[in-house]
Amino acid sequence: MFQQEMILPTVTSRDELIGAMKRRLSQDDRVSPADREVFLRRLSSYAGQLVNGLRAVYGRRPDFWELAAASVLTAWDSYAERPDDLRKLDVEREAAPSWFLSRQAVGGVCYVDRYAGSIAGLRERIPYFKELGLNYLHLMPLYECPEGNSDGGYAVSSYRRVDPSLGTMEELAEFAAELRAEGIALVLDFVFNHTSNEHEWARAAVAGDSYYEQFYWIYPDRTVPAQFEETAREIFPDDHPGVFTRVDATPAGRAASGLEEDPRWVWTTFHRFQWDLNYSNPAVFRAMASEMLFLANQGAQVLRLDAVAFIWKQMGTTCESQPQVHDLLRAFNAMVKLAAPAVEFKSEAIVHPDEVIRYIHTDQCVLSYNPLQMALGWEASATRKVAMLQQALNERHNTPEGTAWVNYVRSHDDIGWTFSDEDADRLGINGHDHRRFLNGFYTGRFEGSFANGVAFQDNPRTGDCRICGTTASLMGLETEPGPAADRILLAYSLAMSTGGVPLVYLGDEVGQLNDPTWDEDPDNAHDARWVHRPEYPLSDYERRHDLFSVQGRIFGGIQRMISVRQQTEEFDGTRLIPFETHNPHVLGYQRPGEHSVVLCLANFSDWSQFVTGETLSGFLSTGEELHGNGTIDLRSGILLDAHSFWWIRVIPVQQTTELSHKSAEKTAR
Ligand code: GLC
Ligand code: GLC
Repeated sequence: MFQQEMILPTVTSRDELIGAMKRRLSQDDRVSPADREVFLRRLSSYAGQLVNGLRAVYGRRPDFWELAAASVLTAWDSYAERPDDLRKLDVEREAAPSWFLSRQAVGGVCYVDRYAGSIAGLRERIPYFKELGLNYLHLMPLYECPEGNSDGGYAVSSYRRVDPSLGTMEELAEFAAELRAEGIALVLDFVFNHTSNEHEWARAAVAGDSYYEQFYWIYPDRTVPAQFEETAREIFPDDHPGVFTRVDATPAGRAASGLEEDPRWVWTTFHRFQWDLNYSNPAVFRAMASEMLFLANQGAQVLRLDAVAFIWKQMGTTCESQPQVHDLLRAFNAMVKLAAPAVEFKSEAIVHPDEVIRYIHTDQCVLSYNPLQMALGWEASATRKVAMLQQALNERHNTPEGTAWVNYVRSHDDIGWTFSDEDADRLGINGHDHRRFLNGFYTGRFEGSFANGVAFQDNPRTGDCRICGTTASLMGLETEPGPAADRILLAYSLAMSTGGVPLVYLGDEVGQLNDPTWDEDPDNAHDARWVHRPEYPLSDYERRHDLFSVQGRIFGGIQRMISVRQQTEEFDGTRLIPFETHNPHVLGYQRPGEHSVVLCLANFSDWSQFVTGETLSGFLSTGEELHGNGTIDLRSGILLDAHSFWWIRVIPVQQTTELSHKSAEKTAR
């Protein structure tokens, strides 16, 4: 039953729900009649999605319809509070939803504190964001969080307060409006798998409030936790083995209960201070939906659904990507469609590619990180061979209509080798051994490697590890700047051209190196991801216009790619057509436009590579290279320098025959 005092209408079907809401909302004069109509129209469209999503998870409960009605009222309350300019944006976006499919869409991501000190500092960087060509800015989580132990902000103590050292929620909303005026969409994290152990719900749970105890997975002893741990995957074994933690495992936990020893155990997928929320309790869904819509009303246009795969736990399973996760997502999605439809979801599911794709749908997340392309880009850089990456582009790139990848080279997290072993098998590659090789290569344990990476969560028990390091350091910029700069540009060329929103991990575009002091801070020393989360690299940025510096070469190259992308009609949308280069070192793909296609070639070898004229014979003989290399004769083949990429506008022969058929048909008619 719901704690909140609210008299809910009695309904037992979707139509009754809509009817009851019509009557109920007509008495609420916070919203004008015209705006109320807008909400009711949306309710007719999305009540079904909301009810079905909730029913799949909570349908057996006797209070199910009360939950559905209460959820609609939660959406309505947020809608009533939604600022006018955002309501206007909602209407615009409903008419033209797919802005992120445009070739103009280019993203950047940064930590507010590390990149600019505060929200006020970030405002001064807006001209830079425009110089680079961004229109999407993801700020890493900037909410109130425990001091020291915050997992870079992913341990949220309040979704409604900004970390006071960065600014205030009012400032954030103003900043969002300012970005909007400049054509830049603000992207915020919705960290909804867990809260910090200092969130008021967690504090109440520790203090013994049974209502809030049910917000988390808390058990009196190890019996049930041990059963779950038989099948659930451990994510940060360096912090704690298994997935549960003693409630008193942190000073905050001890302080709040007032007990000398607190024998309870709580589910903590990530760190000890990140407590997993219990979505089998519908009150958690409603409470989190309300926090989510609060963030939407601050002006976020994309919410990054952090650690989405983990939100449903089922005994005897891995507790990742369970079917209920998708049902809950449909319900959350319906909530924004009702109250804040300008907001889109981005899935952060860094899991097996068969699972990643299941989050990408217009009724779940229209955007998703593309961890497979990211990981295989690094794989190709290490092996100088493109077979795995080519296979992924050929078979796993295209996503449902109206959705797109977010293509990235590096993020604030570690690199995990999340490719499919079955896919690797078909190429004669043993997944397990290959991961070992890649781990060795990027941690510099492999002789002849160019990389300066650091191992993360080295697990001697499972032989597993993941990789940390900035793009520049992993590409070996410290030791061989020239080739490293080329490799960086090659990696970014994929993100810019395969289709979807490219995302720049800010600092990468000026070749920012690893932070050599990362483990001096005792709060971070246990977490190697901090090696690639350095402070704003002022001197690198100062050199960005000096074309003789390596920083200038990288910056100039990335800025150029962004501008070519934005001028190239074929880069709209996400569709990709495979292209076989018949050269194991050269990746090929085509981006179709209306009258022509852009053929992309990328050479991962340390030597020049040739693509023969015969291989290119499916195109008319002249092509136009888009980076200013001019017109080229495809019949004589293409010689690509080491680590270089070409974007060539070509006309497929087949298309010309189709076109001439069409015009012949026309004349015949
Ligand atoms: C996501 C974040 C990562 C964080 C984890 C727990 O995977 O990207 O940085 O540690 O969630 O919130
Ligand atoms: C795991 C999780 C991913 C998270 C990462 C943080 O890979 O699957 O969600 O970002 O850990 O290191």
